[in-house]
Amino acid sequence: MDKIVIAGGKPLRGRIRISGAKNASLAVLCATFLSRNEIVLENIPEISDVRVMIEIISSLGATANWENSETLRVKPPQKVSTGAPYQLVKQLRASNLLLGPILARFGRVRVALPGGCNIGIRPMDLHFKGLAGLGAELSLEHGCIRGRVKGRLKGARIYLDFPSVGATENIMMAACLAEGQTLIENAAKEPEIVDLANFLNTLGAKVRGAGTDVIKIDGAPILEGGVRYPIIPDRIEAGTFMVASAATGGDVTLENLIPIHLQPLSAKLREANVEVLEGEDTLRVRADKPLRPIDIKTMPYPGFPTDMQSQLMAMLSVVPGTSMIVENIFENRFMVADELKRMGAKIKVEGRMAVIEGVPSLQGTQVKATDLRAGAALIVAGLMASGETEICNAIYIDRGYHKLEEKLMSLGASIWRK
Ligand code: UD1
Repeated sequence: MDKIVIAGGKPLRGRIRISGAKNASLAVLCATFLSRNEIVLENIPEISDVRVMIEIISSLGATANWENSETLRVKPPQKVSTGAPYQLVKQLRASNLLLGPILARFGRVRVALPGGCNIGIRPMDLHFKGLAGLGAELSLEHGCIRGRVKGRLKGARIYLDFPSVGATENIMMAACLAEGQTLIENAAKEPEIVDLANFLNTLGAKVRGAGTDVIKIDGAPILEGGVRYPIIPDRIEAGTFMVASAATGGDVTLENLIPIHLQPLSAKLREANVEVLEGEDTLRVRADKPLRPIDIKTMPYPGFPTDMQSQLMAMLSVVPGTSMIVENIFENRFMVADELKRMGAKIKVEGRMAVIEGVPSLQGTQVKATDLRAGAALIVAGLMASGETEICNAIYIDRGYHKLEEKLMSLGASIWRK
């Protein structure tokens, strides 16, 4: 059942609940290794990336059991087994987030170099620079990252050349068990960073400034909090439904989200003539007027998220006029353009820039997802297109969307697995 089929052309209408954030869940699952006690995580989405991360931490000695469909009880290991199998790690780039916590808690680590989505080179130099700055010795041997620390990590001042989400998370987690104070300068400011910091603080860590350029961490010898912690809602899942509503001329209300996390997208949708109404923890997205073309540049948060760029490209492909997208985060993120072109879109890609000439409509055909968000974009395209769209490699979409077909069906879409 690796194909999703959509009979397009129906406006989405209704209300749905947004699930917990994939990226925050993955980081927090790694951070559990810093604690000595059992932790109960709420609002965890049961998606395949989370399932793989659970397998990885289990292979390293943790135990994880679902209490119900979105509550996970995690018991971190008291000693860590040597390495997570490559078969698992290659499926998930975020497995690199285990480096910091394992080094800090157990003094040595061996993890296979991770894989993940096909969206570019994705180096790890900033992770290495940060952890080395805290006193870790790291090397790359036979496709494995090996690390060791003599004694405890030592707090340090670390400047990131680029506000990398993963590097900020890795260093922040490691610094919680380091001796003395760590400053991360030019840190990433994404909501998932703040969520991870809040989780670490409930474990007993002292992390200040998350969400700003400088994060200050006062290290402690042990973290012993045994807590229940609810993960924030997934802003990218929410954003994908917002774009799907706008693209189909729909009227969808999203519940259980944090509207401010979606501001960069809401602003762009309003510019495109979509009505976006904010409630306390809801957003209503209504598109009953003709859409206008817009220009987008992806940037680190609070700029426009790279993870929403492909879905908007799909929507803009039928907006009359010329729109432009500049991708500043990942160099390989326009692969979906070729698939959209197969559906009739007119898109020219030149390096990091895509120029989209709106066409009257897209036609359903066979297309393939090349990464998670490309898959989401093809869902948006399929919902707008005439006829049937068959999306292969749905396995990519399952990495990040909880009950996608169920949610879309409840909004009136015709969508099924094949
Ligand atoms: C995280 C998110 C991903 C999102 C991305 C940017 C998770 C699990 N994934 O990915 O969904 O698209 O943030 O918002 O949270 N870079 C380096 N050296 C490094 C690390 C990164 O040059 O050591 C570069 C990358 O190649 C990329 C840019 O920095 O060009 C951003 O990467 P980063 O912010 O680290 O993204 P991830 O943490 O991998």
